[in-house]
Amino acid sequence: MDQTIVNERKNALSRKQGEHQIVPRKMRTRDLDAGGRHWLGGDPYATAFFNALSAVFPRGEAFMIESLSAWQDKVSGQLADDVKNFIQQEAAHSREHAGMNRALIRSGYDIAPLDLAIRKFVEFFSATSDLTKLGATMCIEHLTAIVAAEMLADPRHLEGCDPEIKKLWIWHGIEEIEHKAVAFDVWMHATREWSPFRRWITRTSMVSTVSFTFFINRTRGQVELLRQDGVGWRQALPRIIQYGFKKGGIGRRVLKPWAQFLKPGFHPWDIDDHALIDKGEAMLAELTPVSVPVAAVKQAPVPIAKAA
Ligand SMILES: [Fe+2]
Ligand SMILES: [Fe+2]
Repeated sequence: MDQTIVNERKNALSRKQGEHQIVPRKMRTRDLDAGGRHWLGGDPYATAFFNALSAVFPRGEAFMIESLSAWQDKVSGQLADDVKNFIQQEAAHSREHAGMNRALIRSGYDIAPLDLAIRKFVEFFSATSDLTKLGATMCIEHLTAIVAAEMLADPRHLEGCDPEIKKLWIWHGIEEIEHKAVAFDVWMHATREWSPFRRWITRTSMVSTVSFTFFINRTRGQVELLRQDGVGWRQALPRIIQYGFKKGGIGRRVLKPWAQFLKPGFHPWDIDDHALIDKGEAMLAELTPVSVPVAAVKQAPVPIAKAA
């Protein structure tokens, strides 16, 4: 039997429903201005990396919520619960990053050019089928999960970070890992009639395209933010690449887990980074007053923002 088929079946059989519980956590950030314009250790390049992500999260996450919402009543059991919790988590991320983005604007940044890039991305997919939107979300979720895992695995990435902003990123990182397989599992359900080869070629083509677009747009976002810091693109671009791909850099460290998505029969939980959820919660507890229990606190439903 074809190895692709063997792997697909093995994964379908080995997935234990409910093994990775998804828990929307309570999080309300405040005083996001306290860290100043370069809130990550005073380093404009490190700050630009995270700012370029934050600037596109509200609209990007609204797109992902809409993509999954279309499938909410087409799945059942544990997966239906996973979708509900995914939507709740992403809605809260979107809300908190909108708050962070307002702080960026207050510190003097114009994030409209970055917003335009994500608006165009979402507009492109608005003309596509629910399945294509779901596929794009599955691919973006792989990217966010591997970046989140690297951010939590190596504390140097957030060294010198303003504590309130650090809380936001750690909380977001934990939940990105926790719900990383939801869009994937829904897509697998939606394509259950497809041959393993068709599934493989579709998702590997999509992840390559989505990742390329993601890389180009986030790099352009960093160049734009650094331009607003007074750094020309000729100086900024090599430094951006160096920051991401130096030894221990986030971009370099995520190359291997990114490539795992290309394997036939891959499932997001083949990368077992469950321990990073506990690690992230411990990091969060250190940053959060004892009176506010962070883990396992159910949050009231959050209104879902509509993607433009
Ligand atoms: Fe998120
Ligand atoms: Fe996510």
